[in-house]
Amino acid sequence: MCRPTHFDVTYAINPWMRPEEGADPSRALRQWAGLRDLYRRLGHTVQEIRPDPSLPDMVFAANGATVIGGRVLGARFRHPERAAEGPAYLSWFAEQAADRGYGTIRAPRFVNEGEGDYLLVGRTVLAGTGFRTEPRAHEEAEEFFGLPVVTLTLVDPAYYHLDTALSVLSDTEIMYYPPAFSEGSRALLETLFPDAVLAEAEDAAAFGLNALSDGRHVLLPAAATRLAGVLAARGFEPIGVDLSELLKAGGSVKCCTLELRPG
Ligand code: ARG
Repeated sequence: MCRPTHFDVTYAINPWMRPEEGADPSRALRQWAGLRDLYRRLGHTVQEIRPDPSLPDMVFAANGATVIGGRVLGARFRHPERAAEGPAYLSWFAEQAADRGYGTIRAPRFVNEGEGDYLLVGRTVLAGTGFRTEPRAHEEAEEFFGLPVVTLTLVDPAYYHLDTALSVLSDTEIMYYPPAFSEGSRALLETLFPDAVLAEAEDAAAFGLNALSDGRHVLLPAAATRLAGVLAARGFEPIGVDLSELLKAGGSVKCCTLELRPG
């Protein structure tokens, strides 16, 4: 995770961002600390990367890389405003490599925004494209991780990263918002996950798909109350988290969290 010390909305690269309104970094920091402390209370280890004062979106650690089995694929951002985050996250991994077992660290050739667009479900990588990550990056990820990568095309600019429209609940279960995907990608998701939890417009608008599950607890934006009810009925333990200040930049629970899967 990356502390939002320098968080602000100073440019607009997605429809949620209003630079003329800005954001309150101290409120963002309080909310973010709530999420970090919640992870710790649930027994998860949280590591922090030092925030860079020139990178107001660096709090969205999910975009910094993709880590599977100790292999680290760096990010290459679509927009120049975030470009320096790619090398910043890569050097953090390089510093950690010896003690933490990150054997192979790769600077990417193609635009990919890390776990914003790559989500691991079981041994399959679901990969978003349409707004940020480019399709040829999916081939690069498949070759690098040696895992099947399923390309999914996003069509609604409000849901510009895969993790704003789809969330992994367990090794076999996902939830997603169908209208965020192209017709073909919807058909593909129905085939692969016939029992998926289907989100509605109000869930997606509350950023409810930007959730993180440990297989039992599902941490999701507090405003996504309908979706929380559906998850509870499925046997999960939904926990609402208020990250409303970070939503002003178009991010929430999952965006703030890069999952580390050491080898
Ligand atoms: N303002 C950031 C952007 O538009 C938000 C990134 C949210 N991160 C995510 N994983 N969806 O790039």
